[in-house]
Amino acid sequence: MKEPAIVSEIVLIAAVSENNVIGVDGNIPWHKDRKKNQELIKDDFDHFKKLTVGYPIVMGRVTYESIPPKFRPLPGRQNVVLTGDVSFREKDVYISRSLEEALHHLGDRRFQIQGIDYSKVFIGGGQQVYEAAMPYATSLEITKVQQQVEGRELRYFPKIDPAQWQEQKREDKQGYSFVTYARK
Ligand SMILES: NC(=O)c1ccc[n+]([C@@H]2O[C@H](COP(=O)([O-])OP(=O)(O)OC[C@H]3O[C@@H](n4cnc5c(N)ncnc54)[C@H](OP(=O)(O)O)[C@@H]3O)[C@@H](O)[C@H]2O)c1
Repeated sequence: MKEPAIVSEIVLIAAVSENNVIGVDGNIPWHKDRKKNQELIKDDFDHFKKLTVGYPIVMGRVTYESIPPKFRPLPGRQNVVLTGDVSFREKDVYISRSLEEALHHLGDRRFQIQGIDYSKVFIGGGQQVYEAAMPYATSLEITKVQQQVEGRELRYFPKIDPAQWQEQKREDKQGYSFVTYARK
């Protein structure tokens, strides 16, 4: 594992299909059929909220902009957006040009916000950001969705190498499971 940051835990959080897809046409795949996936969407949203509230969360610009404007920045969390676009502005969001800079910023006491716990940083996607963060990750919170996803504009979660990761906790539901992986 690489060691870039002062933050001690770096947690990738994602919902992933059986064929490793996290996004289709700029959206979360199972959000296309909200009625059919109602229970999964609600449960996964609650799970995401329960784990991430109170901590910083880092996202790519595309993922951030895919959140409906009335729900962003994600409340109760320090939102961090990665972008190379120097004109990108968003109120109450820390904007960073690189993952490494963002992690150093979050680990620097001088910039820390009261009410946020900096012992853990969540990485909320998408593909580009998961790929950049995987070498630094200490744990993975994966919602494994028992669906195969097809489409043209697909985004994927990086491979979870069994030589490096072990399943630590698992909660099976109807059609999906919440799985925690710890680095070996
Ligand atoms: N299933 C899930 O749990 C889940 C979670 C999150 C997202 N998603 C899905 O994933 C898809 C989006 O993923 P994506 O890979 O296309 O986009 P993304 O990772 O969300 O955002 C990509 C953008 O972020 C910026 N960026 C990424 N890495 C950077 C880095 N290391 N340093 C600086 N800037 C960086 C760049 O912004 P600029 O172009 O502005 O420079 C880049 O174009 C969507 O379909 C979304 O719904 C799924």
